[in-house]
Amino acid sequence: MKDILTAPFIKEMAETTANMYRLGWDERNGGNISCLLTEEEVSPYIDLDKVIRVIPIGFDGSELAGKLFVVTGTGKYFKNVEKDPETNLGIIRISSDGNSAELLWGYKDGGRFTSELPAHLMSHAARLSLDKEHRVVMHSHPTNTLAMNRVHVLEERAFTRSLWQTCSECIIVFPDGVGVLPWMVCGTNEIGEATAQKMLEHRLVIWGIHGIYGTGNSLDEAFGLIETVEKAAELYMLTAHLPVINTISDAELKALADTFGVAYRKDYLDI
Ligand code: 13P
Ligand code: ZN
Repeated sequence: MKDILTAPFIKEMAETTANMYRLGWDERNGGNISCLLTEEEVSPYIDLDKVIRVIPIGFDGSELAGKLFVVTGTGKYFKNVEKDPETNLGIIRISSDGNSAELLWGYKDGGRFTSELPAHLMSHAARLSLDKEHRVVMHSHPTNTLAMNRVHVLEERAFTRSLWQTCSECIIVFPDGVGVLPWMVCGTNEIGEATAQKMLEHRLVIWGIHGIYGTGNSLDEAFGLIETVEKAAELYMLTAHLPVINTISDAELKALADTFGVAYRKDYLDI
């Protein structure tokens, strides 16, 4: 067997969590990531027949039965993943009945997957139903996005428009806009179900006064989506208290989307 610490998917998880920590998005144990893996990717590094522990997941994950994920651990700090992946990450396989996770590697100190596993797995199922290439669900607490949550109406059309208007990249990067959930208790099946519902329309979902979820076909793509929202939110917060003299009009937003050939939320523009 090859050394799993050299596996591209472990190295990339370590790099991504370290980046997110250094950006100030993931204080303490804030944030969590799950990434779908293939048997071909994982089998050179671990014995897929050797289950270390079976951990109930508390909801029906049968849609994802047999699927493998690398998932950050609950209570674990993003800043520590790089120096100790085996304690802070785990590789799980969803059992054939969909009720539990089979731990194949990691959570070395007896830990377990993130408390937000319902939102992660339900979002994976939702995104996979639309895009067979989907792989990543990423949750984070980016500072400016959260600041904007405090001063902006938590309604997805209005929130998306405010982000799109801050800079030209936004409508090109997230033409599907951001879904927005009201404040809810986190770590529950209910918030998981509500998130997955939003994921049928958006790759980004804001949890009111808590954080954001981004998804994608790679860690880079999910990270890039969150990064672009956070940049826009920073611009919004830097200017929210000033008279706005210039903005990007709806006609200009449409011209951007048309030029770059992105399928944007037409109902989010007044055209
Ligand atoms: P976990 O430590 O369980 O991943 O929770 C962190 C978090 O951000 C909760 O929303
Ligand atoms: Zn959180």
